[in-house]
Amino acid sequence: MASFLEQIEPLKQSALADLQAAADLAALEQAKGRWIGPQGQFTGLMKQMGTLPKEDRPAAGKAINAAKVELEAALAARRDALERQAALPKEPTDFTLPGRRRPLGRLHPLTQVTEAIVRSFRKLGFVVADGPEIEDEYHCFDALNTPADHPARDTQDTFYLDAPGRPLLRTHTSSVQIRVMEKQQPPVRIIVPGRVYRRDNADATHNPTFHQVEGLYVDRGVTVGDLKGTVEFVFKELMGPETTIRFRPHYFSYTEPSFEIDFSSPLVKKMGKEWLEIAGCGMVHPQVFENVGWDPEVWTGWAFGFGIERIAMIRYGITDIRLFYENDVRFLRQF
Ligand code: DAH
Repeated sequence: MASFLEQIEPLKQSALADLQAAADLAALEQAKGRWIGPQGQFTGLMKQMGTLPKEDRPAAGKAINAAKVELEAALAARRDALERQAALPKEPTDFTLPGRRRPLGRLHPLTQVTEAIVRSFRKLGFVVADGPEIEDEYHCFDALNTPADHPARDTQDTFYLDAPGRPLLRTHTSSVQIRVMEKQQPPVRIIVPGRVYRRDNADATHNPTFHQVEGLYVDRGVTVGDLKGTVEFVFKELMGPETTIRFRPHYFSYTEPSFEIDFSSPLVKKMGKEWLEIAGCGMVHPQVFENVGWDPEVWTGWAFGFGIERIAMIRYGITDIRLFYENDVRFLRQF
């Protein structure tokens, strides 16, 4: 009995030292096998308990179990330490290295300009409206009082779809004026940013698809003065406080009278010009009100439309419209 008890302590010490010396998890598993695995030396000592006289076994069992608990705790602690060590990076960390820069995306310049336009009109109580890009002749032309022989309906300008009913890709956002007036009752105060399509060859100032903003204001007693004041407010917001505008008589089938809007600003002068033509507008033609079933004796209104690319080109000094569609990050990251 005495010799059995005497063996426990040195065996335990050897086992503890061995576990502690394991350099990695694989070595630790091997050390565990050498001592407390089925063939382990410590396990072997436990098996000898059976040879002790019956009265000695309780004391021997107590001593050897205490040692085993200690060994298992040491094993778990060593395993824990080795696992934590394995999770650490192999190379030391250099905290003086510069940080990693994550490239930040940003909004496309056309989106930024569109949002600026929408923000200005919102201040005046306008809301954004939307309509389909695949339109029909009625909404794009007929209802806007554009007769069938009008040059804007020439197939040179319009993409028609090879489908029943002769659908087309809208050539302007003016079609949405009709869609909105069909759906709701006056008064109306909307702006419509959106994509339009024309059969143009791409060059520095043309692209078969581009963007417009349409505006429509209908109420009782609306005047050209309201139109001019609104346009002036918005262009000053977009192009700076030194911006001035002028109206020139023009023709659009859906407005009467109709105007072209020119604007001038330090930016325009820098381009070597006095005035730049920027938008079309006018008082809603009575026939257009008739077409949507509104009484032109009661309701008056104005409408305008302009190209978003053109505004963006002037604002940022961009000389080729195609840059907007190429998605070259060297261009995009400048905005
Ligand atoms: N639809 C015209 C175009 O695409 C722009 C325009 C002019 C819109 C006069 C209007 C307007 O609403 O009243 O060039």
